[in-house]
Amino acid sequence: MVDAATSTTRWLADVADRAVSLISAFQDRSGAYPASPNFSAYAGYCWFRDGAFIADAMSAAGRYDSAEAFHRWAATALIGWRGRVDAIGAATSILHVEHLLLPARLRLDGSEASDEWANHQVDGYGTWLWALGEHLRRTGSPAEPWLPAIEVVVDYLLAVGTMPCFDWWEERPPGVHPSTIACVAAGLRSASGMGVLDAARNHAARAECDALLERLAWGASSTGYLPKSEGSTAVDAAAIAAVGPLRVVGGSLGLATLATVEARLVDGAKVYRFEADQYYGGGPWPLLSAMLGLAWLEYGNEARARELLDWVVTTEDIRGWIPEQARGRLLHPEELAVWRGRWGPSATPLLWSSAMALRLIVALRPGLS
Ligand code: BGC
Repeated sequence: MVDAATSTTRWLADVADRAVSLISAFQDRSGAYPASPNFSAYAGYCWFRDGAFIADAMSAAGRYDSAEAFHRWAATALIGWRGRVDAIGAATSILHVEHLLLPARLRLDGSEASDEWANHQVDGYGTWLWALGEHLRRTGSPAEPWLPAIEVVVDYLLAVGTMPCFDWWEERPPGVHPSTIACVAAGLRSASGMGVLDAARNHAARAECDALLERLAWGASSTGYLPKSEGSTAVDAAAIAAVGPLRVVGGSLGLATLATVEARLVDGAKVYRFEADQYYGGGPWPLLSAMLGLAWLEYGNEARARELLDWVVTTEDIRGWIPEQARGRLLHPEELAVWRGRWGPSATPLLWSSAMALRLIVALRPGLS
């Protein structure tokens, strides 16, 4: 007879295996992870944000080659932007740098698209540094080979890390978002912790990271939780990442942020992005439920993490694909048809969704996959 604990462990191992297989199957030969292999607006593109979280999950699951291939793909692009980032650093006004800002996503071959996408999203660069740092720490690999790319990102984050930009959800208008600041802080802290930066950069990265952590606390002083944007009272589930997996905010502010997300953006285990979300009607995002589970683990709340994971797993289809948005109440149902008309059915599979499920499973059961 198989006891309940063994069968749960097997069940989780199967879900983790399916996530690894899906991500491996769709990872491009270049190392890029397509956001979704078949959704019209995402296929053919790799986002730094999605890619960094996917690489972190693959690394945490012991799929080091996959993570490293992604990091090499990113590093190649980054090194090519050395001159561009120098020009940004040397500019005397923000007005002079707009055309130089780095994109949110690249084609899978590493080339830049010349479309009208909301490209200025700084969070993915911080998250990339964080994910690389996590991978190097896990594998005990040296950081030196990555230094030219790391330097580009550190310089970029020091130059534009607090400049208004689009948020995780590529929403307009640009603003200063605690979820973005958290990624920038995590990236700078990670780079400094690698021990390879020259003294001046290291000092600047540490000082900026401290300033950003203070800024996060200051930005939350009137709300008590990390708000969607500085000066607003709206809440955004992206702020969960500051608590876990990025671990830049903890204590009472982290707890209040999770409690606010739970109260305003969660229905059972279904997590919504933000109250005004209209994208495909604004349904629940499995990747955010998994991220909330990771964040609750920071407070030792394994029971809640498991509840969240249980729901995420129900969103897998028969092929083991997890969508961007799952079935559930829509916040703005009247918008669904607009998006379907524009881009067809919403994205599935979304590799980032599978990655967050995988990351949570590994956190709950290290060594499982
Ligand atoms: C989301 C982004 C994501 C992109 C690709 C967009 O709809 O808002 O956060 O990076 O899809 O998955």
